[in-house]
Amino acid sequence: MKWTESLSVGNELVDSQHKELIKKVNDVLEACNQKKGKEKIEEVMKFLKDYTIEHFSAEEDLMKKYQYPSYEEHKKIHEDFIKKVEELDEKIKKEGINLSIIMLVNKTLVDWLINHISKEDKKVGEYIKSQM
Ligand SMILES: [Fe+2]
Repeated sequence: MKWTESLSVGNELVDSQHKELIKKVNDVLEACNQKKGKEKIEEVMKFLKDYTIEHFSAEEDLMKKYQYPSYEEHKKIHEDFIKKVEELDEKIKKEGINLSIIMLVNKTLVDWLINHISKEDKKVGEYIKSQM
């Protein structure tokens, strides 16, 4: 997964956090693909989860600061994603790494992130710009 200009939301802080988030997702994918042990995968999953929580709260602070009209909706989407990450984490703990988990990681993390950034976060970025 790669950050490209097309994922830019037009806000420096958010963009730099998205880059870091993508790096963390890649760490998870790499650990899965290299068939690293469960412990290592649980470790990178924890880094990802912690960073996701940190990033979402920064984004939510920004939305609040600029009184983003769809704040509640966006926050709910964030909460749902955290739940998904937690479920994935549980599944990995139970089943270990197999092909279906790797596919799920891709779908849950990569697809979700690209979709969320290019739709919802871009709307936030545009709104903030219009308020500045
Ligand atoms: Fe977001």
